[in-house]
Amino acid sequence: MRGFKLPGGTLQICADRQELSRCLADRFTGLAREAAARRGRFTVALSGGSTPRSLYCLLAEPEYRDRIPWGRTHLFWGDERCVGHDSPESNYKMVRDCLLSRIDIPPENVHPLSGQETDPGRAALEYERSLRKFFGLSGSTPPCFDLILLGLGPDGHTASLFPGTAALSAGDRLVVANYVPRLDSQRITLTLPVLNQAAHVVFMVAGEDKSKILPLVLAADTAAYPAQLVRPAAGILEWYADEPAAGLLPVDKLSPADN
Ligand code: 6PG
Repeated sequence: MRGFKLPGGTLQICADRQELSRCLADRFTGLAREAAARRGRFTVALSGGSTPRSLYCLLAEPEYRDRIPWGRTHLFWGDERCVGHDSPESNYKMVRDCLLSRIDIPPENVHPLSGQETDPGRAALEYERSLRKFFGLSGSTPPCFDLILLGLGPDGHTASLFPGTAALSAGDRLVVANYVPRLDSQRITLTLPVLNQAAHVVFMVAGEDKSKILPLVLAADTAAYPAQLVRPAAGILEWYADEPAAGLLPVDKLSPADN
């Protein structure tokens, strides 16, 4: 694994997807144990898509499962497709299959969206209300998740914040329904104020199909892509990529991380 400093965070480049998943499982476990010990609970918003599947499966393996304080861990979703929980498209189903079905976590610690398949706007409002209640928020103050896991799309989207979509300028909302013309489908997503309030934001990027977008998104002098708008106000931003995704990165121009 090779570590680098970025203007607003750090980048770890792992040999392959397997090492990437192990690095992230170690990070997840460490943050979970630290938050649970210090604050009595660990709150995490999970990423959807295909990349994190291997991470979630690994977290369910005894070497990680048995070290994570699931009784004090609260799982939320950073975004969801507007389908039922049994749809192959569902991010909840992906996490249930890879992780929830294989660990002992109290049902009340699992916070999926609901109703997204019938009324996305209402489901977004309900999820927003549940966040405000869980985190004890008033007004438009965003919740501070201990960890938000994010992926990166080839177009530079993250969560369901796609280029040129309304969710990018959602004002003081925490959760919104977001129509994505490129997919001709509705999504529901946490908004940028929530992502940027997190204590730790971790991007997980794997595969050669991300090799073109990754250098563009990590370029410090632009803000052309939604993923570049994720700049935690006080939190820590960490990028993890495998070598295929990092293949076009000008690493010779990056500063090595402090050992
Ligand atoms: C989703 C994700 C989305 C994903 C990227 C990358 O619901 O699909 O939240 O933002 O992280 O599209 O997807 P892959 O991991 O499948 O490449």
